Amino acid sequence: MAILLTGGAGYIGSHTCIELTKEGYDVIIVDDFSNSSPKVMERVKEITGKDIPLYRADVADKEALSRIFAENDIETVIHFAGFKAVGESCRLPVKYYRNNIDSTLTLLEVMAEYGVHNIVFSSSATVYGVPKKVPLTEDMDTGCTNPYGWTKLMIEQILRDTATADKEFSAVLLRYFNPIGAHESGRIGELPNGIPNNLMPYITQVAVGKLKQLSVFGNDYPTHDGTGVRDFIHVVDLAKGHVAAVKYVASNKGAEVFNLGTGIGNSVLVIVKAFKDANGIEIPYVIAERRSGDVAECYADPKKAFEGLGWKAEKNLTDMCKDSWRWQSSNPDGY
Ligand code: UD1
Repeated sequence: MAILLTGGAGYIGSHTCIELTKEGYDVIIVDDFSNSSPKVMERVKEITGKDIPLYRADVADKEALSRIFAENDIETVIHFAGFKAVGESCRLPVKYYRNNIDSTLTLLEVMAEYGVHNIVFSSSATVYGVPKKVPLTEDMDTGCTNPYGWTKLMIEQILRDTATADKEFSAVLLRYFNPIGAHESGRIGELPNGIPNNLMPYITQVAVGKLKQLSVFGNDYPTHDGTGVRDFIHVVDLAKGHVAAVKYVASNKGAEVFNLGTGIGNSVLVIVKAFKDANGIEIPYVIAERRSGDVAECYADPKKAFEGLGWKAEKNLTDMCKDSWRWQSSNPDGY
């Protein structure tokens, strides 16, 4: 019995592949490499000592996907594949709805044809929209500020409806907070396309000399130092959350949502200082305008994941900063 990872060569997928393999699971990957490199899999092999079966295909390609299900004994799917750039989704909403929703529907059709009932889905804290209060619990209101976020929320709903209709179906919806860090080997990590949108890749590219300085988007938020507060979580902790979710779907039915965060909010300036303390590198920055769509504070209440999945984040901010830098500094130009 194997676990199929759609988008398994991506940042979170590749780290999850390693953690699952460590726990003795057989993993299969389907990825079209639209936002990842085939070299990731060579690095994963270096780390795990295993050749992970890999299919190069688009999840929305029903024929190709059916072949994967026909050739393998798949027990559970972890569905990472999807477009994820917030800004691009605002410019090209139809592209995002078409890709993210279509591929999920195709996946669910093929799963049903082959009698596969278990799925773990990559959702995002972005589905909480503008939080009314923090920390965020899973029962709080949802609503999005961009099409990317809406695709996540719509897929959550599709999975809930599927679980209502099919009593055999089991779905775990994982709402990620802000994953950063990299595998401690420094061999795999996050590789954004072009200039990074997210904070940590931007910081590491400043540190490595590819970008001049960081722009801190706003210092007049109602937070302790005026800069935005987020729940940064180490990607290896996040990957371990998927292992826990795979175990959960194997023994539970229905759809259940869990936050994957640390429960700790850290501001942009705290991250800049933590990076300096961990790596001895000062990050030059300027204060810039607020970025449209940003919220002041967003961090998780991770209690439900602890109680339901037996999972909690274990790595600290120093680990996150050191591991992000090890990856960036040893791979300045990516793979
Ligand atoms: C962003 C997305 C979110 C997505 C998540 C994936 C937006 C509005 N939200 O979350 O939907 O799920 O990434 O990881 O894009 N910052 C700077 N300078 C920078 C970059 C970021 O000051 O160059 C600040 C931001 O204003 C924010 C914090 O750093 O306060 C974190 O930003 P980021 O890493 O982009 O994550 P989110 O905005 O939380």
